[in-house]
Amino acid sequence: MDLCLTVNGQPISLAEVPGEASLLEVLRGRLGLLGTKEGCGVGECGACTVLLDGRALNSCLTAAWQAAGRQVTTIEGLAQGGHLHPLQRAFVETGAVQCGFCTPGMILAAWDLLQRNDHPSDQEIKQALAGNLCRCTGYHDILRAVRRAARWLREGAP
Ligand code: FES
Ligand code: FES
Repeated sequence: MDLCLTVNGQPISLAEVPGEASLLEVLRGRLGLLGTKEGCGVGECGACTVLLDGRALNSCLTAAWQAAGRQVTTIEGLAQGGHLHPLQRAFVETGAVQCGFCTPGMILAAWDLLQRNDHPSDQEIKQALAGNLCRCTGYHDILRAVRRAARWLREGAP
């Protein structure tokens, strides 16, 4: 099928997309957006998280056709004007990135949370990131990063 969607603000038209292709396969395989990771492929790790019309979801469980006519944001679309998004900067500065495999999904899940709740409690952050697994960090620094980014987004980054 032909597929038209917007990815990171760019209108995209793709021909001959298999009807059973996942959004993850299209993003990585057709568009070369390798920031979106494939971990489990079955909805359990969150590494493939992207934003669809501003809400975080697992792109491995989303059929590509479900994104037709909609806005997809991947980690490559978060920085603006050459500046990291506050979430990206906070993850780097707090040491919340180790191997980095989970990081794009964590950041996009946190982005979704902070759009809806600019001052989340630790419990709310944990809940929002419950579908995103990290095998490296122990999560402590990830929590710190989201708290710090929330503060920067409310009060301005230094
Ligand atoms: S790759 Fe999609 S949830 Fe694991
Ligand atoms: S930083 Fe390695 S999986 Fe999270």
